[in-house]
Amino acid sequence: MPVVAVLGAQWGDEGKGRIVDLLAAKAKLVVRAGGGTNAGHTVINHLGTFKLHLVPAGIFDPNVLNVIGPGTVIDPAALLEEIASLRAAGIDTSNLMISERAHVVMPYHFQLDGLEESSRGANEIGTTRRGIGPTYVDKAARIGIRMGDLLHEETLLSRMTSVLEQKNKVLTRLYNAPADTAIHDTYLRYLDYGRQLEPFIRPIHPILQEALRQDQPILIEGNQGALLDVDHGTFPYVTSTATGSAGACQGAGLPPTALNGVVGIYKAYATRVGAGPFPTELHDATGESIRQVGQEFGTTTGRPRRVGWFDAVAARYAAEINGISTIALTKLDVLDDVETIRICTGYRFNDTQIDTLPSSVALLGKVEPIYEDYPGWMTPTRDARSIDDLPEAAQRYVRRISQLVGARLGLVSVGPSREQVIVLQTIF
Ligand code: GDP
Ligand code: IMO
Ligand code: MG
Repeated sequence: MPVVAVLGAQWGDEGKGRIVDLLAAKAKLVVRAGGGTNAGHTVINHLGTFKLHLVPAGIFDPNVLNVIGPGTVIDPAALLEEIASLRAAGIDTSNLMISERAHVVMPYHFQLDGLEESSRGANEIGTTRRGIGPTYVDKAARIGIRMGDLLHEETLLSRMTSVLEQKNKVLTRLYNAPADTAIHDTYLRYLDYGRQLEPFIRPIHPILQEALRQDQPILIEGNQGALLDVDHGTFPYVTSTATGSAGACQGAGLPPTALNGVVGIYKAYATRVGAGPFPTELHDATGESIRQVGQEFGTTTGRPRRVGWFDAVAARYAAEINGISTIALTKLDVLDDVETIRICTGYRFNDTQIDTLPSSVALLGKVEPIYEDYPGWMTPTRDARSIDDLPEAAQRYVRRISQLVGARLGLVSVGPSREQVIVLQTIF
């Protein structure tokens, strides 16, 4: 039975939540691989509208075990709130598990995320200020606190004491900020979070291994997008994790050899939140109209998302780096009223054509996109349930995207709710 990774293949917000919610019906396990509350995954189904930040999008199916994997970073207060709001909506959360290896976002991580951003001035990354980067820094520096530590009073106190001593030096000497003197209160608060989350915190390795042994279908839910990957994205305007297929295996705790397929989710156009180069960005009325129709406002921060044309150079790069075998193309309906739709098929810089994504953001910020123009279909697509239901012009557009990306078209979504989708290939 397959293990399939479902990944964002642009700059995030491609519709991972809605695609995982759809595919979870055939899965036994959904594992969220990385990131933290910087993610915002929207699901609209028969149970309501949900904005998930840490809980995997398989939570709506009582037959699916949902794992917040070892590669994630967890703000326990936010997670408790998310669990409470799911319960309030009548969702059973007893099928949720948290890896004891996941790292904990502490108050000083939030503080440092804000201070680091402010100190960057004009070079701000535009992080979500959820403490994500600083938490991963501490993991790499081997001074992080893990979810399992919240269950052991002595370990927690001794780790917090030594880390806070260091953090206070950074806060006061580097940033002239007040020292964090609330260690005792913070300790008690985090111990309490640990007590509340204890029923969910487990060693997940045996569970994943058993699922593999029994050939059960497993979905890995990605976070952020391929172009925000810390190694392969538009560095330094990226998040702090490996958001691709290799990172998905690492973050989930599944061997790469177990992976049978990689679904890359692409929006039918492109968006980006936060700073960084975006060659196909639109600054005109068309861009504003797509933003309004597509409701392109951040799920986590509410920031307006930057909007642009589909960038096939970046899209193909994402597919190649991550071995994307299948495309899930989302939000096609948002282009229903656009008269001329463009696809970027190359970049130009100083009379030179560039066909791959440059590693330098200085260069990527200066390139001119080369476009192919497609006549819009000017017809609603939201009720299409098979490819033949789509207007000819829309079929041509999606087929051209598949050809340029170099992967087969598996799903096309034409609206935010679970049933608004065209299935061309079975994923499981
Ligand atoms: P994620 O972070 O990748 O899970 O994506 P987000 O949830 O942050 O953003 C995607 C947004 O697009 C959400 O508001 C979804 O409800 C919405 N959405 C997803 N698929 C479609 C679609 O096919 N059509 C429309 N109109 N909206 C969609
Ligand atoms: P989902 O999973 C879109 C962006 C931020 C910023 C950069 C670094 O919903 O697709 P961070 O807080 O991670 O240090 O911010 O990454 N970013 C996202 N953009 N969707 C996300 O998640 C994102 N998570 C982080 O806007 O540019
Ligand atoms: Mg999102």
